[in-house]
Amino acid sequence: MSGEESECVSRKTRGGLSIVNYLVLICALVLWISSQHTLSKDIKTEVLQRCEKYNENDCQKIWTAFEQAYVGRDTCDVPVENYDTLIDTVKQEIQCDKTLFWSKSKDLAHAFTKKRKCKMTLEDTLLGYMLDGLTWCSKPGSEETLNCGCPEWTKCGNNPVSSFWKRASANFAASTCGHASVLLNASAKPPYDPDR
Ligand SMILES: *[C@@H]1O[C@H](CO)[C@@H](O)[C@H](O)[C@H]1NC(C)=O
Repeated sequence: MSGEESECVSRKTRGGLSIVNYLVLICALVLWISSQHTLSKDIKTEVLQRCEKYNENDCQKIWTAFEQAYVGRDTCDVPVENYDTLIDTVKQEIQCDKTLFWSKSKDLAHAFTKKRKCKMTLEDTLLGYMLDGLTWCSKPGSEETLNCGCPEWTKCGNNPVSSFWKRASANFAASTCGHASVLLNASAKPPYDPDR
């Protein structure tokens, strides 16, 4: 009798424990999936909001062109040319004599163009404005944009963020006409990267 009882108790306990375990596991899984989902939704929402705030572009089309550059790819395998479609999709005319390039003086350059609308930096163009300060990546087999858990950018050159800025800077430089200005920081050593 007591043997049956204890067996019953222990079975119950075992059953109870595994249900709790399952629940914890499912909760953790749901939380993890929803956090992944929210994060990827957040960066998309942020980019679309910035795009719409900037002007009346076809922002959804721009997002699609942006995403196809890196989605489903390894973070170290996003070549600069992958952003060509995005560059072609975002048509923005840069007025002559207005461009301001900066190196190691980002905050000062932006404070300057904010006050004096006569100059514009890359981050004052739609492309730069949309993605300034953001990080993003994806991974093989994924259809999503992640902005969390992306590996450290410095580890490889062909990462989604660096490749974007290289491509966007090249486009900005190519669209420049007339007089261009450069703002450098003479205290920084060296004041600019000679390879860029
Ligand atoms: C210029 O560079 C120096 C040395 O790296 C730094 O302390 C200073 O904040 C920089 N100034 C600007 C405006 O970025």
